[in-house]
Amino acid sequence: MKKYLVQGNRYQHPDLTKRFKELAAEYNRVEPEEIFPTPGGDGAIRSVFLNLSMPGDRVVLNHPSYSMYSVYSSFRGLNQVRVPLKEEGDWWKEDWEKLVKEVRDARLVAIDDPNNPTGSPMIMGDEGRLRELVETTKGIVLLDEAYYEFSGYTASRLVSKYPNLMIVRTMSKAFSLASFRVGYLIANRDVVKALEKGSTPFDVALPSLVAGITALENPGYARRIAQEISENREELYRGLVSLGMKTYRSITNFLLFRHSGELVEPLMKRGVAIRNPVRGFYRVSVGTREQCRIFLDKLGEVLENSNTEQG
Ligand SMILES: Cc1ncc(COP(=O)(O)O)c(C=O)c1O
Repeated sequence: MKKYLVQGNRYQHPDLTKRFKELAAEYNRVEPEEIFPTPGGDGAIRSVFLNLSMPGDRVVLNHPSYSMYSVYSSFRGLNQVRVPLKEEGDWWKEDWEKLVKEVRDARLVAIDDPNNPTGSPMIMGDEGRLRELVETTKGIVLLDEAYYEFSGYTASRLVSKYPNLMIVRTMSKAFSLASFRVGYLIANRDVVKALEKGSTPFDVALPSLVAGITALENPGYARRIAQEISENREELYRGLVSLGMKTYRSITNFLLFRHSGELVEPLMKRGVAIRNPVRGFYRVSVGTREQCRIFLDKLGEVLENSNTEQG
């Protein structure tokens, strides 16, 4: 990156984008023409929502799911249909029958797989189920595999076969490049060509593109991070359970747990940021072992305080 930063006065050479596409294609065993580089995974989601739908179109979402689907749907004036996930023991599952019924007249179906915020697997790259979705809908199935490096499954091999299947990827998670804003869409080559017409070859900034290239040249790093986070996640899971929290299993880099009291503010006061994506549920990111330990200590403190206050 240092080498390239001094060239920031010039527009980046198209060979860099070409290289990124080649590496992302190799990483996913698809063709470079099936890769559309974007500013983060959100850039990929935005491209599809804003370029491939019209106000008034119907968009089908699992609920809960990644918040930006709803943000872009509102911005684009889409009619949102939310299909509630079902709680099944330590996991959450999609309501498959309802989903298939609702996608019939949809322009867009956005599914994060694994799901955020539950951390549960959804379609798991299963061709039979994906075929049912892409053949039932007249629209686009946007499969968001932001957590692919943690889940280990993908539907990327199917984009050449199903032109209305598109896959979102990000380098913000296992590749640890969140602020660089690098991601990409894996889609049928005609879709990529069409989306390229509505963008410029400079949409991913030079430092980010070079960071993305370097990271894809060394995918072992992401594999190690995914492995380490998965181990820490299991420890964090046990810690949460031992604090009495109903905690859901996860195949991502976060855990969802249930608690009826207020946790965001008291934890923030103690230097720990967690999310409250749905009322009564909290989502915590898995960090290093040390960070997980600090979180569990602080959570223990907060719970103890609220027990004494109530007592
Ligand atoms: C399911 C899902 N998709 C996409 C993203 C977007 O990631 P980014 O825009 O940082 O690449 C996130 C981030 O949390 C996510 O959870």
